[in-house]
Amino acid sequence: MGLLDGKKALITGARKGIGRGIALTLANEGADVGVNDIVDDETSQRAVELIEKRGVKGSFHAGDVSTVAGINAVIDSFLEEHGQIDILVNNAIFPDQSRPLFDTDEAYWDRMMDLSLKGYFFGSQRAAKEMISQGSGGSIVCLSSVHSYVAIEEWTAYGTAKAGLKRMVKGFAIDLKGHNINANCIAPGAISNVLPSEDDDDVIDGAPHDPSRFTDRLPAAKGGLPSDIANAVLYLTSELGQYVNGETILVDGGMIATKVMDN
Ligand SMILES: NC(=O)c1ccc[n+]([C@@H]2O[C@H](COP(=O)([O-])OP(=O)(O)OC[C@H]3O[C@@H](n4cnc5c(N)ncnc54)[C@H](O)[C@@H]3O)[C@@H](O)[C@H]2O)c1
Repeated sequence: MGLLDGKKALITGARKGIGRGIALTLANEGADVGVNDIVDDETSQRAVELIEKRGVKGSFHAGDVSTVAGINAVIDSFLEEHGQIDILVNNAIFPDQSRPLFDTDEAYWDRMMDLSLKGYFFGSQRAAKEMISQGSGGSIVCLSSVHSYVAIEEWTAYGTAKAGLKRMVKGFAIDLKGHNINANCIAPGAISNVLPSEDDDDVIDGAPHDPSRFTDRLPAAKGGLPSDIANAVLYLTSELGQYVNGETILVDGGMIATKVMDN
């Protein structure tokens, strides 16, 4: 018996990295899992194959979740396939996440906020609506970041969006009271998001970061892995974490504690 038997979970931006790790972890615990990504390629299809290898239903839902129409189309497609939605994990991000302050123009700002705030908000709103009409509760998780706690040069737009999510889940927690839906963030530290090697890809994690990057400045003395984040998602989306609501859990190997102590 798994912790999520019979649950239906949609993960955005999940063909690789942390999202893929979350998808496989929830599948390991018995959830049927829909993978969304803006990129539909062999890697995307392989993620679905690996979900199905775990004896649950997997599906792929291509689409850009940075627009309201896009996230709604993805959720429509997921519902067509799975009939209901119990878990939404807002995880998608584009690669160029840092930008010098004076190079941050309106187009970049809008791109960041559209994906990381607008898409996460309207996806959560739509999923909550479905969860309420289904009447069996549910869980919403948003991927925030250590950048929502501390300022690191050239990460202001990203950090601002990720900080907004921490307030956003509090709003969902309050506004969804009585519906047995919890909404939380996870704030990862430095997590390796590379794919596992092709000859042994039925695993959650790819290669870790070089630990020498962290030994002197991080209590964990190593970088994190998708499984570190996926286990926190499992906690929040299963019975284990149902009393946690409107909260942000740091999963950072002690990074923020270190930053505070440095000052
Ligand atoms: N990796 C880290 O160290 C780290 C640290 C803190 C927070 N995070 C957060 O965790 C989440 C996952 O990060 P990751 O490093 O695994 O990312 P990643 O780059 O490995 O994967 C992100 C996926 O999102 C997809 N994507 C991009 N734009 C999209 C769109 N508009 N619609 C749908 N899919 C889209 C990409 O194609 C990609 O497959 C992000 O929200 C990120 O901000 C990551």
